[in-house]
Amino acid sequence: MNNRAFVFAVRPQGMPDESTFRIVESPIPELKEGELLLRALYLSVDPYMRGRLSRARSYAPPVEIGQVMVGGVVARVVESENAAYAAGDIVVAYTGWQEYAVSDGKGLRKVDPSIPVTAALGILGITGLTAYFGLLDICNPKPGETVVVSGAAGAVGSIVGQIAKLKGCRTVGIAGGDDKVEWIKRECGFDAAFNYKTTSDYGAALTELCPQGIDVYFDNVGGPITEAVLPRINTGARISICGQISQYNNAKPEMGPRLLSMLVVARAKMQGFLVSDYASRFGPALEELKGWYQSGQIRNREDIVEGFENLPKAFIGLLKGENIGKRLVKV
Ligand SMILES: NC(=O)c1ccc[n+]([C@@H]2O[C@H](COP(=O)([O-])OP(=O)(O)OC[C@H]3O[C@@H](n4cnc5c(N)ncnc54)[C@H](OP(=O)(O)O)[C@@H]3O)[C@@H](O)[C@H]2O)c1
Repeated sequence: MNNRAFVFAVRPQGMPDESTFRIVESPIPELKEGELLLRALYLSVDPYMRGRLSRARSYAPPVEIGQVMVGGVVARVVESENAAYAAGDIVVAYTGWQEYAVSDGKGLRKVDPSIPVTAALGILGITGLTAYFGLLDICNPKPGETVVVSGAAGAVGSIVGQIAKLKGCRTVGIAGGDDKVEWIKRECGFDAAFNYKTTSDYGAALTELCPQGIDVYFDNVGGPITEAVLPRINTGARISICGQISQYNNAKPEMGPRLLSMLVVARAKMQGFLVSDYASRFGPALEELKGWYQSGQIRNREDIVEGFENLPKAFIGLLKGENIGKRLVKV
């Protein structure tokens, strides 16, 4: 039996394309004592993967040419020589863009049988945890405050808005499509939202939609959207820098207005974070997210692309904003 994997083929300048990755086949090795064979069911595609294709300074090493592309998966244990796992178990693993993988069991997490397996890569996985800690830990939102979310119809952003709503905040989302704006207002309870792709003056839109100013800003995108937010923050505002996707394909850093003096004026806090830094607190956070999800207080939308061979397309489409909610690839 052969394994299929996507390896990193060409380091992209700007937006990756399908030649960035190459599919390779190789035989599946025999298991040794302590190992197990995993068959991927769903693979997660995520914006951070663009960072791994670059040699720029980061918090994780880049993927090297010829290496299997990294990524999280939900997989079924096909065969096991490891006492902790049996054939049929469903696990979350970080085995990358391949159909089969041999694991020594380290770093695997069994999927809670009471949840849909795909949720383990989204709302009840890294996506939900990112929204949870980035909003609650860094921004400490209080009832009545105005919370602005960029990338609001994406996987993380749509959950951030819903948690902020549960905390009694007024939520304002920014997203790149009328369908996205409509969905976050209708399904995710955002009080207001605008489509940045059809709005020429982001500042005017924010002034109109945030008449009491902005107390919390959860930033997924950076760039001109964030530049429009900063002059409108209230005294004591908290800003969580989750990601800066508008910058990920730039070969050189984009220069913009220098607005950090707004942090002085408003005595505001701006903090970047990595969800992995909260690993010791994942257990209770997942329990709380599960409660919200199972009671229907938080909606989880998945955007599933069918077919292992469509992984590169699904990833590039994510960078271009094709997705609403959490994008996954079904093998
Ligand atoms: N700090 C952490 O530990 C951590 C963990 C997970 C994710 N993140 C970050 O969180 C952010 C969201 O990740 P996600 O997994 O939820 O992805 P996502 O939001 O589901 O998908 C990416 C979205 O980014 C938007 N986008 C693309 N180019 C843009 C641009 N130039 N300007 C504005 N928006 C743009 C697109 O939506 P539009 O149609 O709205 O443009 C696209 O749908 C990313 O920045 C990611 O790097 C950080």
